[in-house]
This record gives sequence, structure tokens and C-alpha cells, in this order.
Amino acid sequence: MSAPADKQAATASGSPQWVSRMIEVSPLSGGSTPATPGLAGELESGNILFFPRMPFALSAEDASFLLAQKQTDAGYHKNIAYRPAEDRLTGSGKMPARDAARLKSILKSYSDWGAVFLGDLIPEYKGRWIRDFASYRPIEEQGRKARLTARNDLAHVDAFPTRPTHGDRILRLFVNINPTKGRVWVTSETFEGLAERFARDVGIPQDAPGKKVFGKLAKALGIRQWSRSPYDAFMLRFHDFLKENSAFQRDCVKQQWEFPPGCCWICYTDMVSHAVLSGQFALEQTFLVSRDAMTLPEKSPIRILERICGHPLSN
Ligand SMILES: [Fe+2]
Repeated sequence: MSAPADKQAATASGSPQWVSRMIEVSPLSGGSTPATPGLAGELESGNILFFPRMPFALSAEDASFLLAQKQTDAGYHKNIAYRPAEDRLTGSGKMPARDAARLKSILKSYSDWGAVFLGDLIPEYKGRWIRDFASYRPIEEQGRKARLTARNDLAHVDAFPTRPTHGDRILRLFVNINPTKGRVWVTSETFEGLAERFARDVGIPQDAPGKKVFGKLAKALGIRQWSRSPYDAFMLRFHDFLKENSAFQRDCVKQQWEFPPGCCWICYTDMVSHAVLSGQFALEQTFLVSRDAMTLPEKSPIRILERICGHPLSN
């Protein structure tokens, strides 16, 4: 593997303290990508790992099949998702059963591969995650219609309404399978900078002992959607705050990145503020990485917020 190389994006204005950098990682010619010390720290600092050549072995037949899919933009689901824990496909709409089965099989392969790839790349994280959903994104992002807080083209950090993390991290592994077009992102300041500037405007989370007891019980019972911590509630409000803040969207520092056909990239999307401007046909796998696996725990969003608040935000 060649040494990771920094790539500089075009910066629209200013150079604040907290912006994302692209760290290029090249697999060996055989396709394997052994562990490189320091990559966990790069991710946790809000940088993006970039692999110019797709390390996922997608057959030509499966690629053609994926590129032929046309998911309706009018559907409820933003994406077609594979849920590894349930071995179930969602969001495939009225797709014929045979096609849905093939799509599920491809997404399962991608999900299984992603877990091995990430574990090999960053041994510090291996097995210390919940493998969340894999998704396929066949819709062109440019001009895509969505309600404001669901728009992908507005800068935001991720938070999941139905899957509270209690401070665990949202790590996403993307592959652009489009044979001809790049996927274009804009990133702004990382959560570290944004929290310093906006956390008080969003509302500093208060300790809620009653909710905490209920949250513990719900967590123990495995009812994750009922166990939202003050941290999770804040992150959801923060997500919406950024998208609804037209002054921020207009004036924020912007770095534009183009992820070319056949490349792969990884980042913590609860740390890297991002907007998707254009692109079609991407695969994605989400990992909820344990907060206890962080090599730079002080850079975790929950720790950043707890420093600002002065009290714990999850149990
Ligand atoms: Fe996002």
C-alpha cells in the first residue's frame, strides 16, 4: 500500500480550524488493503479515507443489473436498504420478486464484504460495531425532490430518528458504481467546529433523570427507538437546525469533492458535515462503531457536547 496522501479540495471561502481532508489509500495490486496505523485517528478527526480503485469485487453482470434499476423517487424510502440483522430488503417497492431477491443477494454480499474490509483496514474497530443497514442509491441526487429536512443537498451531520446511538459513531462506507459519473459532495466544518458555534443555539441538552431511567430500561429490553438519550435528541435537532439554517447553508465554508467512478470512501458522517450535490448509483454500508473503540475519544461528538454541557448525555 502506498502511504496515505492528503488531497486538497477547492475551498470556497476562509480556512477554519476544523475542515475535512481527504486521505488517499491505495490497495496492493492483489486488491487487499492491510491495516495502516493511524487511519482510525484520521477518521475520528473528521477526515475522509479515499480508495481510488474499487476494492469491492462486483461482477459485470451484477453491475449491469444494478445500473438497470429505476427506483421511483415518489416512494417513502429514500433508499433501497438491506438489514443484515434481519436478512431483509426494504424499499424495493413493486420490484418483481426475482429482481428483489437478486438485489438482496448483491447487497448482502456488499455488506459482508464491507465488514471484512473495515475490520482488516482498522483492526481497532474489528467486531466493535453494530452492522447497520446497507443501501443502494440508484436515484440521481441532482434536483431530487424531498422535504427540507430530508434533502441530501444541504450540509448536515447524520442522526437516525429510529436508531439512537447513545454516543456510538456513524461510520459509512460508500462505493460509486456509476461507470461514467462522479458523485459530488460538499463538506463544511466538522462537528467539532459546528458544535462550538451552534450548540447553544440548538439548545444545550439537559440532564433528564426520569428519562434516563426509562431509557436504561428500554435499552435493556432492546427497544432501541424508545431509548433515545439526550445526546440522540440533540443530534436530531442539530441535523434539522443545520438544514433549516439558510444563512449557514449560504455562508458556510464549502469544500467540494468529486468521488470518481469506481472509487470507495469512508467517513464518520456524524462528524463530517456533508451535502450530496449530484451522483447516481452508489452502494453504502453503515456501521455503528462503539464509542469505546475510539482511538481519539475526546473527538467523539458526544464527548465534544459533554464538554460544552458539563454533564453526561447518555448512560
Ligand atoms: Fe447524510
